[in-house]
Order: sequence, then structure tokens, then C-alpha cells
Amino acid sequence: MEKVSELLGTRYPIIMGALGALASPELVAAVSEAGGFGLIATISLDAEGLRETIHMIRDMTDKPFGANLMALNPNSPQMVEVLAKEGIEVVTTSAGSPKILSSLLQQMGIKVLHVVPSPSLAMKAKDAGVNGVVAEGGESGGMQSANALSTFCLIPQVVDKVAILVVAAGGIFDARGYAAAFMLGAKGVQLGTRLILTEEAAASREYKLALLEAGPEDTCVLPMQVGPLRALSNAFVQGLEGLGEDEKRQTVTEAWARFNQTVLQDNAMNSLVMTGSCAGAINEILPAGEVIRMIGEEGENLLKSNS
Ligand SMILES: Cc1cc2nc3c(=O)[nH]c(=O)nc-3n(C[C@H](O)[C@H](O)[C@H](O)COP(=O)(O)O)c2cc1C
Repeated sequence: MEKVSELLGTRYPIIMGALGALASPELVAAVSEAGGFGLIATISLDAEGLRETIHMIRDMTDKPFGANLMALNPNSPQMVEVLAKEGIEVVTTSAGSPKILSSLLQQMGIKVLHVVPSPSLAMKAKDAGVNGVVAEGGESGGMQSANALSTFCLIPQVVDKVAILVVAAGGIFDARGYAAAFMLGAKGVQLGTRLILTEEAAASREYKLALLEAGPEDTCVLPMQVGPLRALSNAFVQGLEGLGEDEKRQTVTEAWARFNQTVLQDNAMNSLVMTGSCAGAINEILPAGEVIRMIGEEGENLLKSNS
């Protein structure tokens, strides 16, 4: 089976998770420059914005990077042509069926990794012809499925079910998590929350400070129209107490729709702050390149010392 780093063209088998507007071009470039795979989150871009973002990143690095297309975004199919014209070679797809997007992408010669929350959806993704899956456990930040499995339960079951590349996501924030993912059978990892707490992530200062101050039990899963999502238990969440289920879902859905603006503003305590549950374990803001090198090098050393 091809190695994840070969598929991506990177030094380390580490993918930056799509992070909405937090995924600044500087963050994508820093991850790729350090040997990881930076990822443009296309959710808040149009085709022209995507083209400009790709050019900005190319001015900062000549290393490979990719993009994420969400199936629920009606603009995603239009992005495929831009990605192909600009020479993007690997794309992750998420939040819905991979069928249409993966065939459009693969017709253009672009490789596809689809994000899945369960072994059965991993099987469907394989049947749709994807090159691999990112299996994402319920610890992860942002959207997830109802009754999400933890990463520890999910990865071995996906690995046993599908004979394609499996990348682990959800709760991985250091070298121990990297090594554990490989021991569970994954061939690569995807980082989300760890990369929000970097110098280059576009989150407001207050957003980053709120995550730095978060304790181990300070996240929760909120109801939202498209599916549940994990977020920080802050004043915004306290304000949902006492609302009926429908009203709560509506309020969270509206906050989610505004997320890519509010994440850039210093109003984190009163807004939706999407984060994974590993926020409580991360105690410093670092340059993204340092995070990638540290996890890649120390993770490999841990695996070697245990073999
Ligand atoms: C703020 C935020 C925004 C996200 N946006 C997206 C997105 O646009 N598309 C997607 O596929 N995943 C998205 N995710 C999920 C991440 O790409 C990643 O898989 C997840 O954060 C991994 O779990 P971790 O946070 O525990 O590392 C988002 C996660 C967060 C925290």
C-alpha cells in the first residue's frame, strides 16, 4: 500500500485538518513548509478567492498543499476546476457523500481522501473509489455524527473494514497521539485543534486564549441542523440553557453560519468557539512548523523505541 507521505508528497504523514476561516494562507504554508500537508478550507471562499489563496500560499512555499471540499457546500463542484487548473494534487472531502465530488476530482486527476466517522461510511467511501479515508473520532472539533465513536474505537474498526489508506483524526495533539494512531493501524494523522493554537492560525487572540485556558472537561456537543458539533463550553453555551430543543438547534445553526466571521473577532466568550476536546491538553501557542516537526519527529522516535 502506498505511504501517506508518498500520496501527499510530504516529509511527514501529517495533514492539517480543514479549519474554516482559521486556515489562513500563512498557516497552510507554514504546515507545508515544515513537511506536513497544509489544507485550504474552501467553505468561506468562492472560485476566485480560492485561486487567490492558492497563489498567496505558492508565494510562501513551494511544498505541496491541498484543499478541503465539503459536500454540503453547493459551491464545492465549481472549485474542482480551479483546483485542477492550479495543479492541486490531493483534496479531502467531508460532510456528506463523497460520490459526486470524488468522481469530479478523480476525472481531473486529483486524489481524494474522504473524512468518515464510522466503519460503514468508510466502506461507502471506498466503494465510491476514494484513495483513502480520514477516520475522525468524536473527540474532534467542529461537526461530527450523532453517536460518534471515539478515535480509539474507530480507527481499528475502519482499518479492519477497508483495505485502503486510513488517516486518524480526533484528539491528536502530540507525539503520543501520533504513535498511538499508527499502533491502531492508521498510516497518517490529521490535526485540527493543535493547529488552532499556533501563531499563524487566523483565530482572534481571545479565541486562542479561551482554548489555552480550557480545562479537560470544558467542551460539549451542541445540536445543529446539519449534525452535532463540538465546541467550548463558554458563555454562548450557557446562554442556550433553558431554550427548547428546536430553539437551541436554531441558535447554534445561526452561530455556525456566522462562525467564519466571528472566529476572527475578539468576542470569543459570547460566540460559538468550535474546538476539539484536546484543547484542555494544549498549553502553548507555537509556530505551526514547530508543531509539525515536533509531532513528526518525536512520534516516529516513539514508534521506533517500541518496535
Ligand atoms: C474550528 C474548526 C473548523 C473546522 N472546519 C472544518 C471544515 O471546514 N471541514 C472539515 O472537513 N473539517 C473541519 N473541521 C475538523 C478538522 O478538520 C479536524 O478533522 C478536527 O479538528 C480533528 O480533531 P481535533 O480538533 O481533535 O484535532 C474543523 C474543526 C474545527 C475545530
